[in-house]
This record gives sequence, C-alpha cells and structure tokens, in this order.
Amino acid sequence: MSMTDPLPQPTLHTERLTLRPFVVEDASAVQRLAGSKRVAATVPVIPHPYLDGMAEGWIATHADAWRDRKSVSFAIERPMNDAEGPVLVGAVSLLIGPYSRQTAELGYWIGHPFWGNGYATEAAREVVRFGLQDMDLLRIHASYMAGNDASGRVLEKIGFRPEGMRPLHVERFGKHHDLYVVGILRADAGDAGRAAP
Ligand SMILES: CC(C)(COP(=O)(O)OP(=O)(O)OC[C@H]1O[C@@H](n2cnc3c(N)ncnc32)[C@H](O)[C@@H]1OP(=O)(O)O)[C@@H](O)C(=O)NCCC(=O)NCCS
Repeated sequence: MSMTDPLPQPTLHTERLTLRPFVVEDASAVQRLAGSKRVAATVPVIPHPYLDGMAEGWIATHADAWRDRKSVSFAIERPMNDAEGPVLVGAVSLLIGPYSRQTAELGYWIGHPFWGNGYATEAAREVVRFGLQDMDLLRIHASYMAGNDASGRVLEKIGFRPEGMRPLHVERFGKHHDLYVVGILRADAGDAGRAAP
C-alpha cells in the first residue's frame, strides 16, 4: 500500500463482528457511547463533555486520514443476525507514526452496555492483523492508564508485551495516572502478522 493507493478503506469481518468505516449516521451513537464518563475516564483523547457536532467532526476526518495514511478508524458493529439488526458497539483505530510510517498506536473503546462480551478483544485482534499484514506495519503499540485492567487484559490476550511505564504521564479529570505501554512486533506476531523476514 502506498500514499497514492486509491483503495477505499476496507470492511473487516471477525467471527461475530463487522469492522467498517464510520458514516455520518453513526454520529448520535458515537456521541452517546463515547460521551459516557465511564468510557471517557480511561481515554484522555475523548472529549468530555461530548458536545453536539463533535462526533460528526471526528467522522469527517476519517476519509482524508485513511487516504494520507495517517490513521484508520473502524466502527465495531455487533452481529448482523441479531434480532434488532446491526448495532454500533464501539470503535477501534490505528494511528500511524509519528516517528515512522510503519509503526502505529492501537486505540479502542466499547460502549458501556456492551462491555464483557469479548468484543474489544475480537475487534482489536483483527485490526492488529490488518495493520501488520495488510498495512505492512512493523510494530503496533498501545498504552493504558493504571487501573484500566480490562484494557491491559485485552492487550495481553492479543499478544502485546509490556514495554514500560511512564509515571504520572496522563491527566484525566483532575488526576494524574501512570501509563503502561505495551507493543507487538510483526516479527513476533506469528499468525497475526507476516512471517519474520
Ligand atoms: C477496556 C474495554 C475496551 C474492554 O472492552 P470489552 O469488550 O469489555 O473487553 P473484552 O470483553 O474483550 O475483554 C475484557 C477482559 O478484561 C477482563 N476484565 C474486565 N474487567 C476487569 C477488571 N476490572 N480487572 C481485570 N480484568 C478485567 C475481562 O474478564 C476480560 O478478560 P478475560 O477474557 O480473560 O475474562 C472497555 O472496558 C472500554 O471501552 N473501556 C473504556 C475505554 C477504554 O479504556 N479503552 C481502552 C483505552 S487503552
């Protein structure tokens, strides 16, 4: 894939989930789910309060970010065969760089009503595969605030290894928190990535 690659952002499928580009019609669900303090509490980049128009603004950045290979964001949609039809349950993204075009940071959130179903693990695992195999990334890292043990567990389950801790690195809601950093190398990823060179 190159900067001039005209391919549209793909839709990915896991056993239970569809990972697709966001559309503006997702904005109200994004505002409601990401606007919850329970979700925002552990993701400093999510605005809080999450005001009208912010979700539309965020979604509007996605197409150029994909085209310019700056980031890729996927809406996580629950099973199509669910009686109520597809439901947006969260978001997962890769932020490329800033020090290499072949490294990225993984981020995700799941709406609080949908926690505990394995959705974050399933979605993150597939996006890591996509990043390492299809986007040709060499490594992906992620970071989580001290106390966010659910996220630490998700990252452990998908093969990320501890890389360190930044003391009091993150401020959220008036308190500073240690930040744990974990990562995965394509060369170590086994089936999640291309075979080591
Ligand atoms: C972190 C988050 C994404 C997890 O989503 P999820 O879909 O519930 O995660 P999963 O069900 O795939 O896996 C959660 C794992 O953490 C475990 N877990 C949940 N709460 C836990 C806790 N308080 N302490 C330890 N482990 C916990 C679960 O048991 C599960 O592990 P298991 O499969 O070994 O039993 C979700 O809570 C969230 O969106 N939080 C707010 C946003 C956020 O923190 N994003 C990540 C920023 S780094």
